Amino acid sequence: MIPGLEHVAIIMDGNGRWAKLRGLSRLNGHEQGAQAARRIVEAARERGITYLTLYAFSSENWNRPSSEVEGLFRLLERFIDTEIHRLKTSGVCIHTIGDMSRFPETLQNKITRTLQETSGNTEIHLSIALNYGGRDEIIRAIQRVGRLGVNVTTLDEQTFSDQLDTSFMPDPDLMIRTGGEWRISNFLLWQMAYTEIYFTDILWPDFDENALDEALTWFSGRQRRFGLTSEQIEGTTS
Ligand code: IPE
Ligand code: IPE
Ligand code: MG
Repeated sequence: MIPGLEHVAIIMDGNGRWAKLRGLSRLNGHEQGAQAARRIVEAARERGITYLTLYAFSSENWNRPSSEVEGLFRLLERFIDTEIHRLKTSGVCIHTIGDMSRFPETLQNKITRTLQETSGNTEIHLSIALNYGGRDEIIRAIQRVGRLGVNVTTLDEQTFSDQLDTSFMPDPDLMIRTGGEWRISNFLLWQMAYTEIYFTDILWPDFDENALDEALTWFSGRQRRFGLTSEQIEGTTS
């Protein structure tokens, strides 16, 4: 257990470059990326992280070549088929965030079954961001607020948060982005207001338990102030 670390969110970036470096196809890179995801779920559970959110497919990733998009869906189906038993028996509760309505119906049904089958697990909440975009999520939440008939002139943060896809989870304490880019690519825009952000050059398929531990050690050295002064946090002020 790392003090103050309940929720880790990860932008799993660099699969394509990992493959290119080895003369492989981008889909090979995504396959290795899926293996890395499997390892990190297990490692996170072992380290007492209770919420893990993985960015798997963004609302902008639809613009990639259709062969890559279709390959990613096939890979996701295969991941569910091969991992569901292990996830179920190791206490992983699976959730999704994002707008699934654009996905093929068979995939949607498979995902829904997976969520139901693991819904009783409590050890770690694994949320997979699929067709997820922070802006899209905010717009959908506003639409829900409207449908609920909430008076927007008195809307507060909690009421709004309750309509986001992430309403069941705390905000991320730590966000890790692999692959060397320093940007957040439309991930958890609302939720990352006070998240500590860790960037690493490691390409996602190479991200392992040691790399996770390095990120966790970095996190442990941060002082989270949430707008206060260091003196207030350290209790050295009168
Ligand atoms: C991240 O890896 C996975 C997805 C976006 C689906 P990329 O496919 O973006 O890999 P790079 O950034 O091209 O190396
Ligand atoms: C972010 O990676 C999305 C996922 C990891 C699913 P991208 O590779 O799509 O991000 P950009 O395009 O480099 O910002
Ligand atoms: Mg990328």
